[in-house]
Amino acid sequence: MTQTAYRTHTCGELRAADAGQEVSLAGWVHRRRDQGGLVFLDVRDRYGLTQVSVSRDDDAASHDVASSVKPEYTVRVRGVVKSRPDAAQNDKLATGAIEIIATHIEVLSTSPTPPIEIAGGDEISEEVRLKYRPLDLRRSEPQDRILRRHRMNRYIREFFDAREFVEIETPILAKATPEGARDYLVPSRLHPGRFYALPQAPQIYKQILMCAGYDRYYQIARCFRDEDLRADRQPEFTQLDMEMSFVEQEDVLGLIEELLTGLVKEVAKHPTDLPRPWPRIPYHEALARYGSDKPDLRFGLEIQDVSEVVKDCSFKVFTGALEGGGAVRGIRVPGGAALSRKEIDGLQASAAEHGAKGLAWMKVTEDGVTGPIAKFFEGSDLPAAFSAEAGDLLVFVADTDVGVVAWSLGNVRLAVAEKQSLIAPGAWAACFIVDFPLFLAGDQEGEWAPAHHAFSAPVEEDLGLVEADPGKARALAYDPVLNGVEMGSGSIRIHRRAVQESIFRAMKIPEDVAQERFGFLLDVLQYGAPPHGGIALGLDRLAMLLSDVPSIRDVIAFPKTAKAVDLMSGSPSPVDVEQLEELSIRLADQ
Ligand code: AMO
Ligand code: AMP
Repeated sequence: MTQTAYRTHTCGELRAADAGQEVSLAGWVHRRRDQGGLVFLDVRDRYGLTQVSVSRDDDAASHDVASSVKPEYTVRVRGVVKSRPDAAQNDKLATGAIEIIATHIEVLSTSPTPPIEIAGGDEISEEVRLKYRPLDLRRSEPQDRILRRHRMNRYIREFFDAREFVEIETPILAKATPEGARDYLVPSRLHPGRFYALPQAPQIYKQILMCAGYDRYYQIARCFRDEDLRADRQPEFTQLDMEMSFVEQEDVLGLIEELLTGLVKEVAKHPTDLPRPWPRIPYHEALARYGSDKPDLRFGLEIQDVSEVVKDCSFKVFTGALEGGGAVRGIRVPGGAALSRKEIDGLQASAAEHGAKGLAWMKVTEDGVTGPIAKFFEGSDLPAAFSAEAGDLLVFVADTDVGVVAWSLGNVRLAVAEKQSLIAPGAWAACFIVDFPLFLAGDQEGEWAPAHHAFSAPVEEDLGLVEADPGKARALAYDPVLNGVEMGSGSIRIHRRAVQESIFRAMKIPEDVAQERFGFLLDVLQYGAPPHGGIALGLDRLAMLLSDVPSIRDVIAFPKTAKAVDLMSGSPSPVDVEQLEELSIRLADQ
């Protein structure tokens, strides 16, 4: 099926059974080994590598060509397939049982020495790889990731197609949506002073599609958010966006669990069969036990609340926090007594990132506890509360703000796991976080922002709290979490206009503003909207986990740097003044 005018076979195709056939291959010169009268070329394409052998005695003209080619030239080779003698077979190569005895070699294009060695390993700096991305993408590791991502997308499409989902495209030149990040704006030439916004997500469109009766929608959708970037964030990224009508939370979770479990089993580089059902962990429980709303469950190190145990101790840091309405919590680090002072300081820095004022610690020995705060805890029940053994380290955060305690220890937990190499290679762990709060406190006193977005339905019995006590209302919102990565977010949506308006009131969005911004959704909600819900998965993050790489840049063909720059094309770039004039735009510095 891959036969073309240039080739009968790909470079990954020929086997011992093909011996004797006359074939032609086309591809890149991967390596050349010159043994005088005999030249070996490894010819490469996406499918693999085939050894071509060119002997001066057999064919002087081809030998001349083969002697002159360099790595990354493209060539077309005609020849006969020959079984290699046993000793010359290469088990590591799919085509290692054969070679091609060339009868004709043609150079299709030449190449200077490339700035990236294609046959080399992964040690090249990322900056160089992104600058010379086309060459980088020729290398086997990036290619493996891009191809795995293709298989992921194919699996997703087949999965949804088999379940009556309809793939529908939604606008890219859209209206600003309230996903929470800054919008990328596109000026309108025809309407000076007006702007489209690139979609942060197809959220409103997919809800409208449910109102329009499509019942089940999905889309592999590009989203755009102008936010500060990290290893798992890009300014443009891809979501698997989906929405279903007449569903409750468990309908969505069951389907997503089935999809992700299937992908980890069928597409992952290190596949596994994740046990189902995945745990559903309430948000507050996740914070208390793991100090995170995306807990990594590949290792233990659970956080324990020891407020009760220490409430009468003489260590003022602990009792002070408790008197201020806070908490004292800690983690037992098995074998952690071996950590040096410097290493413990490193853990303290991890705690400080989330606001902890310190990290108290003690080492457990056969004869009791040691360390700077040991004197306050001689003979205390503290080690027993952790079931600690000699050789363990106990670390604590105390604060009047329970959130600071939880998130700080959550960060310490991750740092310990990394330091102690607690995550086995190829390990997987999944869960859903459920029972999110509907709102989180905003920057100003009395200001409430949706924890997910403004369209998530409150838990039915919390409807009365939405405006009365927003901080207490729970949302029918959920996040799948894989290996400590937030894989997606979704919710059951509001399908009654009155509830939606109540949410906007709680957010202090005036009625006319709500109508101006979201009228196109509010209006359709009054014409018989079906109960509906859905989710969006971060496909870049999923591809990153499936390929077991540390950054989503590794699984995006043409990613941007942490400064949102495309090093290959040089975007963003200045534009002509004329172009700006046409758009009625004048730059501030001109
Ligand atoms: P949310 O904003 O949580 O939800 O996005 C869903 C998922 O998209 C991924 N993601 C990103 N991936 C890479 N780079 C980014 N900058 C980035 N931002 C988000 C994450 C995240 O979990 N419309 C709702 C979904 C819904 O309610 O159905 C939404 O967009 O994996
Ligand atoms: P100090 O009394 O300030 O010298 O602190 C004694 C120990 O308690 C040090 O190891 C600090 O890191 C630790 N510590 C200080 N504040 C806190 C806190 N809020 N929670 C946990 N440990 C703390």
